[in-house]
Amino acid sequence: MPKVHSVYICQQCGYHSSTYLGKCPQCDSWNSFVETIEKGKGESLPGVKGKVIGEAEIIDLSKIEKTDYKRLSTGFEEFDRVLGGGIVVGSLVLVSGDPGIGKSTLLTQLALNISENSEKLRKPDSQRIRNSDLSDSTGTPSLSESFRSVLYIAGEESATQIKLRVDRIRPDAQMMVLNETDVDAIVEVITSTKPGLVIVDSIQTMETQELESVAGSVGQVRECTHRLQKAAKKMHVPIFLVGHVTKEGNLAGPKTLEHIVDVVLSLEGDSSSLFRILRSAKNRFGPTDEVGIFEMEDKGMIEVKNPSKLFLEQKVNAPGSVVVALLTGVRPLLVEIQALVTKTSLPISRRTGSGVDNNRLQLLVAVLQKRLGLPLYDQDIFVNVTGGLKIIEPAGDLGICLAIVSSFKDVSLKEKTILIGEVGLLGELRMVRQLEKRVGEAKKLGFSNVISTENAKNLVAAVSLALK
Ligand code: TYD
Ligand code: MG
Repeated sequence: MPKVHSVYICQQCGYHSSTYLGKCPQCDSWNSFVETIEKGKGESLPGVKGKVIGEAEIIDLSKIEKTDYKRLSTGFEEFDRVLGGGIVVGSLVLVSGDPGIGKSTLLTQLALNISENSEKLRKPDSQRIRNSDLSDSTGTPSLSESFRSVLYIAGEESATQIKLRVDRIRPDAQMMVLNETDVDAIVEVITSTKPGLVIVDSIQTMETQELESVAGSVGQVRECTHRLQKAAKKMHVPIFLVGHVTKEGNLAGPKTLEHIVDVVLSLEGDSSSLFRILRSAKNRFGPTDEVGIFEMEDKGMIEVKNPSKLFLEQKVNAPGSVVVALLTGVRPLLVEIQALVTKTSLPISRRTGSGVDNNRLQLLVAVLQKRLGLPLYDQDIFVNVTGGLKIIEPAGDLGICLAIVSSFKDVSLKEKTILIGEVGLLGELRMVRQLEKRVGEAKKLGFSNVISTENAKNLVAAVSLALK
């Protein structure tokens, strides 16, 4: 094998150096050098057939057979929906999240579900197969035949620790664990055993001997992901990567991996709440606005099938509490927003939002001051979305405004009120998409006083309809 050379490249200006430099001599950037493997000229993309012109290869799309993605069920409806209908065979999925949020737990459960399903598939009389996509009518071996097992690659924990977790989740369950951090050895194992699914926990512990930098550095993480991506595509094996979010909120180096992988999922949640929200930030095979909701229990994560009901279980009708109807992907979701408005003791009043964007909050407070004439300048305003959810769509605006007005005036909303609407800078209510779907969910849960663009044109009208 020819010797592989690595070089350090400045990520700002592309300056090459044979050693690590703290400061780039060309553009003066600090800490911008990343170790990269230097490729020889004339290397082609592996596994791609086509005409060769110079070094590049051109592929005629009409020659490529049309095939649907084969998808594999995760055994969790919530997880499948976020992925767009299951795991696409040959895809590389990154699951990111803060340490301790439950990534390993969720992926261990996924591994156990899939192993269990494949066991059932081997027994033809089984009635409980969840995945109808597994059969293949084209004559090629079906997934169930080629399916062997799930391989859990543990770079962080020992096999004993994983066994303890598995015992906690599902005693006596079967799972194959590989304690390895060398990515090339892992690729070899994947190539020789062709497992049905591979889970790499975590990508920050993986390394290739061809780079000098330590595991977890931008160069290593990027190169290892590239190699696993190639293995996934070549062997048609789906691979899940666990990625810890670092202090800056970036994945090992500034979102180094997001452009390499096919799907980016993030597992989020409040440390004080047991709810965990699985969100997709990028999905080459499905939507990106779906969320899956789980609850962390003693025996792993449990799917929350009826989140609206659960989120509103503890709601009491008090000043500052409102309910809004959001839409996550195709599913309507009712959540409670709470606000607390109190006179400030500081020279500058505070506006703090948890689960709402702070800039949006500032803007809505300004609209309330101007359009409703509320003297909020000397008031501290705290807004919280219960259940650890984040509101990213503007349909929650009206709810945020009414929660603030209700707390400021110390008057509760009328019983069974639901608020749906975007608020414009002029204080007008703006249309939201799929209003009927949201209203339908609200009615199902007993909300009769619906306030939206249908019956209120602006904030003033909405306030008079909502407050007691
Ligand atoms: P873990 O999956 O190890 O987190 P990550 O891989 O994201 O770092 O989960 C860590 C937490 O989850 C830990 O505090 C223990 C808790 N936990 C449960 O509450 N129930 C369980 O069944 C398991 C396995 C863990
Ligand atoms: Mg872990």
